[in-house]
Amino acid sequence: MLHPDGIRINGQTGEMAPKTGGYIKRLSELSAIFQDKIALGEQVSSYEDPVVYEVIEYRKDGSDLFFGTTTMYPGDVSGEFFMTRGHFHERRDLGEVYYTQSGKGILLLEDREGRTETVEMLPGVCAFIPPDWAHRSINVGAEKLVFVWVCNPLASNDYGDILQRGMRKLVVKDGVGFKVLDNPAFHMQSGR
Ligand SMILES: [Fe+2]
Repeated sequence: MLHPDGIRINGQTGEMAPKTGGYIKRLSELSAIFQDKIALGEQVSSYEDPVVYEVIEYRKDGSDLFFGTTTMYPGDVSGEFFMTRGHFHERRDLGEVYYTQSGKGILLLEDREGRTETVEMLPGVCAFIPPDWAHRSINVGAEKLVFVWVCNPLASNDYGDILQRGMRKLVVKDGVGFKVLDNPAFHMQSGR
């Protein structure tokens, strides 16, 4: 029998108490998703492999829901903002919710037919991610971007497709703001 619980979440830092797990992604682990590998390598060696994002989660075996925070650090590689790997869910019938707590980001989505969408990630905005839309979050601000996500643990992240072929759009620096461009390196390989 699972018991109810109340988890304290700090919307500025992403800290959760209690928590059951989490992980950190550093820039060197994300070289596949950035275009400029040379600039990325220089940044890894000059800045001690910066943290791009941290995930903290609250997960209980047997539950149909789990949730957590993702905290994304500000930064870019040759104008490409720090971003998450991006994924589809293995279970194509399960979506997700991203509720932004602080910072400023863009949620980039695309479906299997090639339609793309963006949703602004601003404090108080709760993004609805429908089933079978790939999703990637991108910190376009100067501060940490912190958001709470809620998902079914059976959804299971499928990173392969996006790591292999990229997403159709890029979000890059444009002066003090950002712009969304077609990704010149995008190539459709998987045929799924
Ligand atoms: Fe997801």
